Amino acid sequence: MKILVLGSGGREHAIIRALAQSPRVTKIYAAPGNGGIAQLAECVDIEATDIEKVRDFAVANAIDFAVPAGDPPLVAGAVDALESAGIPCFGPNKAAAQIEGSKVFSKDLMRKYNIPTAGYEVFDDAKKALEYLETCAIPTVIKADGLALGKGVIIAQTRDEARAAVREIMLEQKFGASGNRIVVEEFLTGPEVSVLSFTDGKTVVPMMSSMDHKRALDGDEGLNTGGMGVIAPNPFYDADVAKWCEANIFTPTIEAMAAEGCPFKGCLYFGLMLTPNGPRVIEYNCRFGDPEAQVVLPLLDSDLLEIFEAVQQERLAELNIAWKDEHACCVIMASGGYPEKYSTGHAITFGDAGHAFVYHAGTKCKGEELVTAGGRVLGITATGSSLQQAIDQAYAAVDIISFSGAFYRTDIGKKALEF
Ligand code: AMP
Ligand code: GLY
Repeated sequence: MKILVLGSGGREHAIIRALAQSPRVTKIYAAPGNGGIAQLAECVDIEATDIEKVRDFAVANAIDFAVPAGDPPLVAGAVDALESAGIPCFGPNKAAAQIEGSKVFSKDLMRKYNIPTAGYEVFDDAKKALEYLETCAIPTVIKADGLALGKGVIIAQTRDEARAAVREIMLEQKFGASGNRIVVEEFLTGPEVSVLSFTDGKTVVPMMSSMDHKRALDGDEGLNTGGMGVIAPNPFYDADVAKWCEANIFTPTIEAMAAEGCPFKGCLYFGLMLTPNGPRVIEYNCRFGDPEAQVVLPLLDSDLLEIFEAVQQERLAELNIAWKDEHACCVIMASGGYPEKYSTGHAITFGDAGHAFVYHAGTKCKGEELVTAGGRVLGITATGSSLQQAIDQAYAAVDIISFSGAFYRTDIGKKALEF
């Protein structure tokens, strides 16, 4: 089978590496891919969000199955365009992708169907939002309604910070039209868990849990990023919590989406916080997490293509999906300055990565050389029979990889080890 994967990050590299292990896959294309993906797939120079070009390429090259991996193409309707051209896809259509594409849609869905989440108010008028901030509880959380590259969430510790956030998002349009509406949300506390799931709109199968490390610096200090490292499984998410979440969050969400006329097919990502009052949904994503995919997929002990096809054909209930009884750790090596300004084009030197695998996030080939091409550059992943072993092997590989200005957290998995 000929497969087309849309996207260019570490998540796409992880999906492609897992698909490449399927005996039925004969050829993988990536649009646009990156320097590491190029070792497993043919990279074509088409942006994932250029949906017409993607569809024309898929038709011209007789693609059998497509995987739009990131939120921008999914929210823009890549699945609708490809499937109407006769190409089956793994992923939600445009209507279902709203669960990530609009915070207001997802919060209203949870309210309507009693799915536990933080209390909230919606504003499309900056003046009303600013009035509300005069009396609401502090800290508070302000979220742009639309996609904002993972940066549209501001935790305001003071009333002044909250006011500034509303001005930036709504009046200065820091995230463009994504900020025409905002959600102001109750501030919650507790450990966070990422649970990705496979769902065909009727059945939901949670994958192994994981723990992202979103802040830029050790000790969860510094700015929010797309994720600086991740471990799986997440020790805070035990069997009792899992059972509770399945009954009160996962199944109700799948049923709610179907009841709303937009059944969700693909990978639904539940971002959860285990608060003193029980688990709450912090966010939904309509796709695999990045870097969560880089630890969860290496632990999958089933054929990913078989799962993708079962989801697309709505027969997920027939499958038995198996997981390895192992742990995984992924450490992100980022460009100095990320998530703010950083420079690219620096040569990357690799040594022998030993027991680790290097997922590429922001790299490209420049002649014979591999150079940095993004904020998050590499995701160094190792698996092991214990979390400690996975962490040690990942960091051993980090030590022998270098590029100018490289930075990474040194404490990925520390909180999980201390649990
Ligand atoms: P999101 O982009 O929605 O995942 O938010 C980014 C991060 O902000 C989350 O991973 C949390 O750490 C934090 N966050 C989001 N919503 C809340 C909330 N209601 N209370 C506390 N922290 C939050
Ligand atoms: N790692 C968080 C995300 O993919 O949204």
